[in-house]
Amino acid sequence: MRTTAVISLVIPFLSWFLPAALAGLPGLPSKIYGVNLGSWLVLESWMLPQEWLDMGGQMCDVCSECIATEFAFAQAYPKTVDQIFAGHWLSWFNQTDVDALVDVGINTVRIPLGYWIVEPLVDRQTEFYPRGGLAQLRRGLQLLQNAGIVAILDHHALPGVQTPNQMFTGRCTTDVEFYTSYNYHRALIWTSVMTVLSHVDPAFANAVAIEAVNEEEMNATDTPNYGEFQKDFVRVVRATEFLLGVPTPGFGAMPAPANGNFTAMLPNVNETAIFTAEVRSVLEDTVPILLELGISGLSRRKEQLITNFMDVNWQNTNPPNPADAAIGPQGYDNHLYYSFGGVADPNPNAYLTSICNLNRIQADAALGDSPLWFGEWGLPTQFNATDAFLFQWADAQKLAYSQGAGWLFWNFKVEMSALAGNLSRQWSYLEGVRLGYLTKDPSEVNDPNVCAPYVSA
Ligand SMILES: *[C@@H]1O[C@H](CO)[C@@H](O)[C@H](O)[C@H]1NC(C)=O
Ligand SMILES: *[C@@H]1O[C@H](CO)[C@@H](O)[C@H](O)[C@H]1NC(C)=O
Ligand SMILES: *[C@@H]1O[C@H](CO)[C@@H](O)[C@H](O)[C@H]1NC(C)=O
Ligand SMILES: *[C@@H]1O[C@H](CO)[C@@H](O)[C@H](O)[C@H]1NC(C)=O
Ligand SMILES: *[C@@H]1O[C@H](CO)[C@@H](O)[C@H](O)[C@H]1NC(C)=O
Ligand SMILES: *[C@@H]1O[C@H](CO)[C@@H](O)[C@H](O)[C@H]1NC(C)=O
Repeated sequence: MRTTAVISLVIPFLSWFLPAALAGLPGLPSKIYGVNLGSWLVLESWMLPQEWLDMGGQMCDVCSECIATEFAFAQAYPKTVDQIFAGHWLSWFNQTDVDALVDVGINTVRIPLGYWIVEPLVDRQTEFYPRGGLAQLRRGLQLLQNAGIVAILDHHALPGVQTPNQMFTGRCTTDVEFYTSYNYHRALIWTSVMTVLSHVDPAFANAVAIEAVNEEEMNATDTPNYGEFQKDFVRVVRATEFLLGVPTPGFGAMPAPANGNFTAMLPNVNETAIFTAEVRSVLEDTVPILLELGISGLSRRKEQLITNFMDVNWQNTNPPNPADAAIGPQGYDNHLYYSFGGVADPNPNAYLTSICNLNRIQADAALGDSPLWFGEWGLPTQFNATDAFLFQWADAQKLAYSQGAGWLFWNFKVEMSALAGNLSRQWSYLEGVRLGYLTKDPSEVNDPNVCAPYVSA
């Protein structure tokens, strides 16, 4: 369905913050010292067990079998879910948290988001999620912006679910349906909406990057046509930017954008490499959603957004390379947890030997996936770690990841309660700083020579 959109507005002039030291990528600090704002707009109940029970949730060993996720909660409590989640959103991340992040020198956050934050995308017959998240995202971004912290918008929980039995997808299920044309299309509409918001909404002025998909399935055999989705993701960001009046190198002889009116512009766009049939279809479906949400305007900034993917080596079995999709600035994300097995033997010596000889940055660079940052990592271990080990473990990881574009710890905090026990010791950045494992200045380490005994010749 085609809908006429009026996407024009008088843009208020606002001065907005950019960090002094810019990397090769527009808007990002030259070295990312970051944290994830996990369990805020995509709630993972294991990170806040007492609050979850107090909200009315449940805990169970297999997360699909009880009220362990947002989906199950919204299905169980359709009348009160929005109000209960609003309470969580306001208490889990507010000015107190921003002040704490500023105090420890954090310059970047990665914000996990669900597709349901763009509410018209949700099929309410079969999909259940709380409403009201977008206003919370605006609130949080504005607080961060006031503090000089930039944000990566991370599409963390995709329509149809991208990975089985994980709370981080918003719904624990083995029915993985993301890798279908219907759900790719919905994710691309989400992408266009987020691109528009990032350029026209003053609260989004510090949103400098959009990550396409968090932790897609590792076996590329299970992600059909994902390489084409990656290309469409970048095309949608750039096509949307073009229509908003963002200078877009490489767009050839396309007409200069006049007023950002998608509907008026589209028929005049002759470019076919970027404005493919699918991209046009996505943009046409985006317009009524923008109208419904009251989002309009021309771009306030003239810088392109950074497109961001999990790195090529996240997947195996002949994966597509997201570097092949790049048009303009692009960054790559790798996640590294030792606590889930498969990386190193479960003992301190093996962990340090592994991290001190990490070759992921070089392996990615050889395939064009540069710059690379480590968008998730933490201090958890498969063994009971001593304090002495956690000092080394924090230092060695920071030194390894800083050889790339930097790092973002998972998570900025977790619940501290009797029920949560020791969870915060290895999963909370703020607690790790308080305990001293993580230095208060994130660019420093306790022992710069921590790796010396472990580096192979
Ligand atoms: C943030 O939320 C916490 C938990 O509800 C609360 O204690 C704190 O006062 C809040 N901070 C602000 C500035 O609202
Ligand atoms: C990937 O999935 C295919 C099809 O199920 C399977 O044959 C292959 O062994 C898997 N590869 C890995 C590395 O698990
Ligand atoms: C936007 O484009 C549509 C279709 O061409 C047109 O009907 C409408 O008047 C335009 N709006 C503005 C503000 O230019
Ligand atoms: C494409 O470009 C030609 C001129 O090169 C122009 O006449 C035409 O209106 C443009 N749009 C379409 C949809 O062909
Ligand atoms: C770690 O310590 C806890 C509590 O002291 C104990 O129950 C558990 O068995 C220990 N785990 C390992 C792997 O040693
Ligand atoms: C919690 O951590 C402390 C060390 O800080 C340790 O003594 C204690 O055994 C841990 N408890 C559990 C249940 O692992």
